[in-house]
Amino acid sequence: MQQVKAVVARGKGLPVELTTINVPDPGPGEAVVQVQACGVCHTDLHYREGGINDDFPFLLGHEAAGVVEAVGAGVTDVAPGDFVILNWRAVCGQCRACKRGEPWYCFATHNATQRMTLEDGTELTPALGIGAFAEKTLVAAGQCTKVDPSARPAAVGLLGCGVMAGIGAAINTGAVTRGKSVAVIGCGGVGAAAIAGSALAGASPIIAVDIDAKKLAKARELGATHTVDSSQVDPVEEIRRIAAERYEGADGADVVIEAVGRPETWKQAFYARDLAGTVVLVGVPTPDMKVPDLPLIDIFGRGGALKSSWYGDCLPSRDFPMLVDLYQQGRLDLDAFVTEEIGMGDIEAAFERMHHGDVLRSVVIL
Ligand SMILES: NC(=O)c1ccc[n+]([C@@H]2O[C@H](COP(=O)([O-])OP(=O)(O)OC[C@H]3O[C@@H](n4cnc5c(N)ncnc54)[C@H](O)[C@@H]3O)[C@@H](O)[C@H]2O)c1
Ligand SMILES: [Zn+2]
Ligand SMILES: [Zn+2]
Repeated sequence: MQQVKAVVARGKGLPVELTTINVPDPGPGEAVVQVQACGVCHTDLHYREGGINDDFPFLLGHEAAGVVEAVGAGVTDVAPGDFVILNWRAVCGQCRACKRGEPWYCFATHNATQRMTLEDGTELTPALGIGAFAEKTLVAAGQCTKVDPSARPAAVGLLGCGVMAGIGAAINTGAVTRGKSVAVIGCGGVGAAAIAGSALAGASPIIAVDIDAKKLAKARELGATHTVDSSQVDPVEEIRRIAAERYEGADGADVVIEAVGRPETWKQAFYARDLAGTVVLVGVPTPDMKVPDLPLIDIFGRGGALKSSWYGDCLPSRDFPMLVDLYQQGRLDLDAFVTEEIGMGDIEAAFERMHHGDVLRSVVIL
């Protein structure tokens, strides 16, 4: 066991605290990782507001990269000294999804068996089974994905959650390819990544929709060919118009990605896709949300697919090294997602800035 500095949320709505925690030595199938960088994601704020569950105290942070310090018995895929991105999809290989060859849906993903604790022994709940606003964290070895060690930790760590969710929503869930038109509604970290992923896949046009002009400017840098300020104009009409400019007769985009997580924006996505197109919901709604007044005939009549994207339907062992390579080759600008590098004491301020739309990601450097 060792003691390290970490950021903990002790109770609903309380400001996070920098404190000391106990990290057990890794047991069978576990690894201790020395964290180098960890992004501040909206989900961390959801945890601290009690929006996910009540299992306080939480050890926050889950978009991280670092170096494996020690591994437990039976661990063969990673070794001390490996540079890794942490993931929250350590697939089991045994569940019905894994057995039918669709491990990106794994229903029984692994986390560490032992618990990290406060100094007084109170067990911590690590955010998404990771907990990386900490000098060191204990995870299941399968949560460590080895990648090119010369990559910048602050940038590639973001593949651990939001950026992977967005890129995967486009490429994995939406099956975006050359020759397809794409619209992305909501261009925060996740939506901006969906735009970058669509650009990587060769889609055109790529239409970015947001209510914040700063986000639209960033979306253009990441590959959007058109931007739509939906606080000013009807985004459904605009998406249809832009798609039809390129593909005669098109009644919307082939793939529309919703990256806000609200019924009204999902409905915009639903009506802004072309016949036989695909809607991808990657934004996460709250349990009370409903989509009102959606005629069943519209669901039937437009055909195609209405999909959700969990973590971009990614397989970390397949997708992380591939995306890091593209980053290293200059074909995927992960640096563009790092708005600022901050310290462990600055997380509350980063939550505040998130509300003002000034950042794609603040990244804690350890
Ligand atoms: N599916 C997954 O696995 C997964 C993973 C990570 C995050 N998420 C979810 O993705 C969503 C986006 O996350 P994020 O980190 O990008 O958040 P964010 O707050 O950075 O971005 C949200 C964006 O939506 C825009 N927006 C808000 N209302 C809008 C409206 N009515 N019309 C158009 N745009 C609007 C905001 O201006 C902002 O740019 C969240 O719901 C988050 O929980 C999902
Ligand atoms: Zn499984
Ligand atoms: Zn996240």
